[in-house]
Amino acid sequence: MTIAKIKENIYYLSAKDWNRRLFDELIPLPDGTSYNSYLIIGSEKTVLIDSADPRKEEEFLADLQNIGPPKIDYVVANHAEPDHSGSIPKVLDRFHEAKVITTEKGKEIMTDLLLIPVEKFQTITDGETLSLGDKTLQFIHAAWVHWPETMFTYLQEDKILFTCDFLGSHIATSDIFATDEARVYVAAKRYYAEIMMRYRKIIQKHLTKIQELEIDFIGPSHGPLYDRPAFILDAYKDWVSDTCKNEVIIPYASMYGSTEQMVHYLMEKLMEKGITVKPFRLTVTDIGELAMALVDAATVVIASPTVLVGPHPAVVYATYLANALKPKARYATVIGSYGWKGKLIEHISGMIGDLKVEVLEPVLAKGRPKEEQFKQLDQLAESIYQKHKEMALT
Ligand code: FEO
Repeated sequence: MTIAKIKENIYYLSAKDWNRRLFDELIPLPDGTSYNSYLIIGSEKTVLIDSADPRKEEEFLADLQNIGPPKIDYVVANHAEPDHSGSIPKVLDRFHEAKVITTEKGKEIMTDLLLIPVEKFQTITDGETLSLGDKTLQFIHAAWVHWPETMFTYLQEDKILFTCDFLGSHIATSDIFATDEARVYVAAKRYYAEIMMRYRKIIQKHLTKIQELEIDFIGPSHGPLYDRPAFILDAYKDWVSDTCKNEVIIPYASMYGSTEQMVHYLMEKLMEKGITVKPFRLTVTDIGELAMALVDAATVVIASPTVLVGPHPAVVYATYLANALKPKARYATVIGSYGWKGKLIEHISGMIGDLKVEVLEPVLAKGRPKEEQFKQLDQLAESIYQKHKEMALT
């Protein structure tokens, strides 16, 4: 756990989860994570912004006690997901007068998830302010930073924006600020890809909304703070932009090598044309790496052998996930192999309904790829090259 005074009467409490390796039983955490909260002591009112995951509740409460605020008047819940709200009931047990400030939707979710009595809530409207005496909080509704109730909190006098998941990164680090920007960039991109990419168009609006604010620091509730806000804001602007990069990603599985032979052949042909190619052998890949690659790529080529009359289950999982994440890719297709018959194309085509892509001609080989399939792969590479050329690429 880290406590740091980031400005006069403003404290950062960060519960480090160094060894956590999976979030939501889904998201790999190669760098662990942290759950940040912030204590703001105004001349009249004291506020806690967010709390900590219940697995770190004892450390969090001990740190709060170490700072020793005589009272907490409000707990601001920017997000109802329990990794930030889960320790709020314990805070309310200790500070009986405290009210939970959140959106109407946040109140509904926390009532259901944490069983907090409704009378403990004070809901706020978009743009509403709250005076702490010498400091003022402004609440900014920002629904769908992957949940429907999310909001940001802006501390006007100190120009600090508290964004919870938004702009955050799953890293456990002793750095208070994002001094190692290269490392934080990768972790923040991974995090954006895994939970926010589906809401890319909404995130664009959130970025526009906060552009009006003067911001000295950004305080997310995962990972280090940003004392150079342009670093993370510019990164997000790139990720959510409508522009794709000249990249093809190929998530694939291969049982006896036929599909992999096709993947390697297609990769060679694409690379000869100056296209960046990122293959992911799904039985060994970190699914977060695949999600990150989906942030930028213009084309996705799903490659699979036929097993149990359809795609390999690892390909089914990755395709389901890619469809759910709704990347901005413009083109997709399927390549692969089969032994006698099967419905590879039909299965995969039926799983990508959320992708707004033009589907290019698939290539299937019976057994090993032969001259005909290599010709088709040549044509596919040429088709991808031409499509990418037609787009405004970066
Ligand atoms: Fe970090 Fe959506 O919770």
